[in-house]
Amino acid sequence: MEVIVKENGEEAGRATAGVIASAIRINPNLVLSLPTGSTPVDTLKGLVRMHEQEGLNFSQVTGFNMDEYVGLSKDHPQGYYYFLNDLLYSKVNINPNNTFVPNVLADDLMSAAQAYTDLIYSKGGFDLIFLGIGRDGHISFNMPGAALQPYTHLETLSEATIADNARFFENPARVPTKAMTIGLKIILDSRKVILLANGEGKSQIIADWLNNQKISTSIPASFLWLHNDVTVVLDKAAASKLQ
Ligand code: PGA
Repeated sequence: MEVIVKENGEEAGRATAGVIASAIRINPNLVLSLPTGSTPVDTLKGLVRMHEQEGLNFSQVTGFNMDEYVGLSKDHPQGYYYFLNDLLYSKVNINPNNTFVPNVLADDLMSAAQAYTDLIYSKGGFDLIFLGIGRDGHISFNMPGAALQPYTHLETLSEATIADNARFFENPARVPTKAMTIGLKIILDSRKVILLANGEGKSQIIADWLNNQKISTSIPASFLWLHNDVTVVLDKAAASKLQ
């Protein structure tokens, strides 16, 4: 596990963008899985800047949302496909036909989840997954609990996560309570993992995870100890409780 600490969130975001850009330059056909939320914004802006100023080429890149709220369409402004499209896909030369999100509008959500797993593996799995982390240790929407799941599945969001995400919704009561997410095996099958965390609010979970080399379903991110190519990028605030 490589841990990189940057002065502030902007620098951490830029460093993360640099890692993703290098991966695209080395492998123009990169299959990339991307997160949503506040954390990735600077990184996505950095990638757009590199596309505009340095010709970073997304024409052969494939982009996968790692999760989506159940019931939100691709053009719903609080949806996660909309988020990635708005901040990245619409601003670079990625082929929209190579951008994917779980079908959370399907009548049969279990089959839709299986189909998403099959689609990911039909593209060869992820070359690179860029993760955030929740204050409760979730990665993608794999919530802490008695058990974790390997493949794409439905999750009921924790109270803390619903509360954290309410800020994106005009009416907090409208935050969906269920999401479809890739599971831990899909994450661990990714050839490279980069996880970004910023701010004091993430410092406790970062310490709980990185100060103890233990794997527990109570901290889904702790399963990344099983992966041999993980880079964690933190700002100083998120790293402040590291020993
Ligand atoms: P955030 O979400 O970037 O909005 O803090 C992180 C996460 O839930 O993975």
